[in-house]
Amino acid sequence: MAADAPVPPQQRMHTPDSELVALILDYVSDRLAIPETPLDHPGQKAEVDAILDGLVTREGMDPARVLEIYADHLSKTVLSADSPRYWAFIPSAPTKASLLFDMVVSAASLQGISWLEAAGAVAAENQALRWIADAAGLPVGAGGAFVSGGSAGNLSALVVARDTARHRLVARDGEQARHRRLRFAVSDQAHSSVRNTLSIIDVDPFVITTADHRFTGDALRAALEADSDPDSIVAVVATSGTTNAGIIDDLLGVGTVARERGMWFHVDGAYGGAGLFAPSVRDRYAGIELADSFVVDPHKWLFAPYDCAALLYREPRLAKAVHTQDASYLDAIHHDDGSYEWNPTDYAYHLTRRARGLPLWFSLVVNGTDAYTEAIEHSITLAQQVAREIDAAEHLELLREPTLGMVLFRRVGWTAADYDTWCARLLRDQVAFITSTSWEGETVGRFSFIHPATTLEMLREVLATTA
Ligand SMILES: Cc1ncc(COP(=O)(O)O)c(C=O)c1O
Repeated sequence: MAADAPVPPQQRMHTPDSELVALILDYVSDRLAIPETPLDHPGQKAEVDAILDGLVTREGMDPARVLEIYADHLSKTVLSADSPRYWAFIPSAPTKASLLFDMVVSAASLQGISWLEAAGAVAAENQALRWIADAAGLPVGAGGAFVSGGSAGNLSALVVARDTARHRLVARDGEQARHRRLRFAVSDQAHSSVRNTLSIIDVDPFVITTADHRFTGDALRAALEADSDPDSIVAVVATSGTTNAGIIDDLLGVGTVARERGMWFHVDGAYGGAGLFAPSVRDRYAGIELADSFVVDPHKWLFAPYDCAALLYREPRLAKAVHTQDASYLDAIHHDDGSYEWNPTDYAYHLTRRARGLPLWFSLVVNGTDAYTEAIEHSITLAQQVAREIDAAEHLELLREPTLGMVLFRRVGWTAADYDTWCARLLRDQVAFITSTSWEGETVGRFSFIHPATTLEMLREVLATTA
């Protein structure tokens, strides 16, 4: 080809392009330099449809123009979960180091399935998993994989719980046990993804009604004793940090009952598992070391970018027996020769996977564990400070003493519509993004804190608007 011949389109896409690199890196660099990420606004369908109309063409478009459309229009209709004023649902607050390393992971096209394809990346991810396993007091043999979120983690773990239990029942009772209906004990406060999981894996929920929203060993024991077929209840799910109120279940009590009865003990710490690194609340997690499986989302309170959940098993071989995919083209990733092998694909329902634990790993190594502890403690302290402000205001009522970073409160005299109006106004004015929740049948206010840059002054500004 002549030196000045145009590059054919099919090659153009893969040809190094320094202008495109500079364009994107400049955007990223500006974004990372914003001192306080703006909340921005929800988008209307007609508005985003109009922006997108006709953009996909045969010839393609100038990247600078496309980036401009994204930056000036599309990105403005995306609420920034990493704004320190975002206190709805569960916010996110990825560290700068983790965001930047996410780009490295993207640029490297890491295939995080197997040791064969990504040994160094898998080993680094496992170092981060080990940090979490140590905090939970899980044994040296514990391990797992990073998956896309708490829902994926719960599903992957509970499939292992089901199949392991089924296997044991068949070994004990013979083939007729293969078709027996199984049940898992879950509290009425378990996350919706746990209920969805049970439906997906065709296991019946054995729902324990909690007193005061906290699942205890005593409640589990009493419910099992009152049941006519407790043998069919083969696993139990506890939550270490409920999503609505941040309540940590009685892990020691529930785990002890699970041990006594040979039930699988799963702990869903998708939101609150990060509190393990906060000395001020660590004792509330007593019993987590009994878990057979445990999930915590670094994309929530461990300051990693979306999407990243850490899934750990006490005995990873049990997960491997369930999740390993058997296909001749994959034989090469499995060795029987005793050489070291850790294939993340073997520990969840996935095959192809992004090495999504690496941004956490990089940030952890760069920033050190103390920075994580302090950042997590910040939200716990803030929740307590806000609780005291609420106590001091006559028109506000604290609904429960916060344990982690969630605060539930009532504005005396407000209806659901009043909360909606208040939340909409705060978002319109870019003061805060808050959504109400439901608590014991009533619509109430809820703050959810993750971001270490959220300040008490911001909260005071918002509380003042309830007067
Ligand atoms: C306790 C708990 N479990 C599971 C999930 C689901 O996690 P994800 O949204 O990462 O799938 C959440 C999400 O908020 C949660 O709080």
